[in-house]
Amino acid sequence: MCGIIGYTGHRPAQPVVIEGLRRLEYRGYDSSGVAFVEGSSLWRVRAAGKLAALEEKLAGISPFGSLTGIGHTRWATHGAPVERNAHPHFGGLNEPVLAVVHNGIFENYREVKEQLEALGYRFQSDTDTEVAAHLIAEERRHAPDLMTAFASALRKMHGAYALVMISPEEPETIYAARLASPLIVGVGTGEHFVASDVPAFLPYTRDVIFLENGEFVRITPGAHQVFQLDTLQPVDKKVQRINWDMQSAQKGGYRHFMLKEIFEQPGVVTDCLAGRALVAGENPHGGMQPDTVRLPELDSFPVPEHIHVVACGTSYHAGLWARQLFESWARIPVSPEIASEFHYRDVLFRPGDMVLVISQSGETADTLAALRLAKARGCPVIGLCNVVGSSVAREADAVLITQAGPEISVASTKAMCSQMVMFALMALYYAARKDTLSADQRRVQLDVLRGIPAILERILPGLRDTARELSREFSMARSFFYLGRGQAFPLALEGALKLKELSYIHAEGYAAGEMKHGPIALIDPAFPTLVLAFNDALFPKTASNMQEIKARGGPIIALAAEGVNPPADRIWRLPHVPGLLAGLVALPALQLFSYEMADYLGKDVDQPRNLAKSVTVE
Ligand code: F6R
Repeated sequence: MCGIIGYTGHRPAQPVVIEGLRRLEYRGYDSSGVAFVEGSSLWRVRAAGKLAALEEKLAGISPFGSLTGIGHTRWATHGAPVERNAHPHFGGLNEPVLAVVHNGIFENYREVKEQLEALGYRFQSDTDTEVAAHLIAEERRHAPDLMTAFASALRKMHGAYALVMISPEEPETIYAARLASPLIVGVGTGEHFVASDVPAFLPYTRDVIFLENGEFVRITPGAHQVFQLDTLQPVDKKVQRINWDMQSAQKGGYRHFMLKEIFEQPGVVTDCLAGRALVAGENPHGGMQPDTVRLPELDSFPVPEHIHVVACGTSYHAGLWARQLFESWARIPVSPEIASEFHYRDVLFRPGDMVLVISQSGETADTLAALRLAKARGCPVIGLCNVVGSSVAREADAVLITQAGPEISVASTKAMCSQMVMFALMALYYAARKDTLSADQRRVQLDVLRGIPAILERILPGLRDTARELSREFSMARSFFYLGRGQAFPLALEGALKLKELSYIHAEGYAAGEMKHGPIALIDPAFPTLVLAFNDALFPKTASNMQEIKARGGPIIALAAEGVNPPADRIWRLPHVPGLLAGLVALPALQLFSYEMADYLGKDVDQPRNLAKSVTVE
């Protein structure tokens, strides 16, 4: 949830740390802070609000000359987002002897705090992090050295965390540990980094070490060593090279990351298909073959008899959309599940089940808990995830990487598009293995998929124009319904989520057939409804639901495929995409409507209030 960076090397640490925080701001942004070791002193500057507030404060003081420092952007889990709760926190009985930044939750901090208070420790914040800082300081009073104290304090902390520490006792050293929250070491020449996310140090190095749960690292400018937290035994870790392009993590001329990411979707579809949707005759092992889907990650697993698709938020909506593809094409029953519910249930796993966890970030706490539950119960887990090296990617039995590229905007857009394409490929892949669709039927669907990038490329600018117009027209609305049937229903849920999270207008997604069972009571001339009207067998039913809304004076926008004539006040045309894949062209329209509405209403599009990109606490 929070963003962490640590640096020790030959450069002044302040600009490296601040730059790193800027690239991590999407992980959390209600306050931020930095600390540096300079000789025998510790310096700290913190500010509530966005990173700009911290930078303003720093501009008023002369830059620190230190070559070792840590920084943090916070998304509050304990204590209000005010300066005294911002990280770094100091630890020490009478004076600060160390500073820490922390991501995650220290669950037993209350008991530990009481013990420390009894020993004379004074607390300035309401955070669990300050307890961790004092706990390490207390351990240091008894331990032979700083490293032993660090490890023994962490062994006393239960919960999920990534924690980074500096101390004037070892002025060029950073200690960092992880349990469940991500932490990555960057290995440079004469310098080392540690961060919650690779982009924080990507301009300096592409060589990284992924810390595993229960490991900690000691870095100095010239060296790194990973240890087991329990035994203090050194661990041999492989340095891996990351081939990410930093440019793709920048706005590329768009006003917002979200807009850039919406417009990247044609390329995202192409990238997801590349190497996976093979055209006839392309058999890499020689000989001719019909159009086929190649997903070698799944080859060694039996075809599942039942799939639990588990995710949160937008990823969950993608999972809901996937159900009909798996059912209709591959004849595999699917249970879409909200991760935060799933892992607390006494789920029945049967032989032949598979759990498919979906997560853009690969770090969502509830989704990871579901993954771990399924693994513990012996059910194979496949991860569908956008971040190489993330926890989902590493812990699942197999992982399919969605190829959406870094998604910076807090609101997920292109990731959902990539998940939908991957689901279509998976359903076709299983349809081939089970022979539930003929080669011709699969080719037809693959042709539809291959046509999507060109359609999106063509329609995106026009969709944006209409979205802008409609957002002006409906900006006074206090509430919205989003309705759909069949494959349009998960899209209705997603459209409503996007509108509320970005523009703060209340919006609810419903299955159109459910309106009569209660929600229609809300309809009046001030309550607009956006209806997804695809050109499929369900359209006549959707049209009669629209009539019912019209009869009660409710304004209707129909996001309607070519070939249908919905009874709506405003018709927003989409090209007709046959079969079950129509959602792929409706999705960007919904995203753009929310984007334009939020922008028109002056909201912070890329960083909506109260949200964070990576939800690493339950
Ligand atoms: C909404 C949004 C969230 C995420 C959810 C899951 O725009 O982005 O609802 O979809 O927090 O995140 P991931 O996919 O990273 O597990």
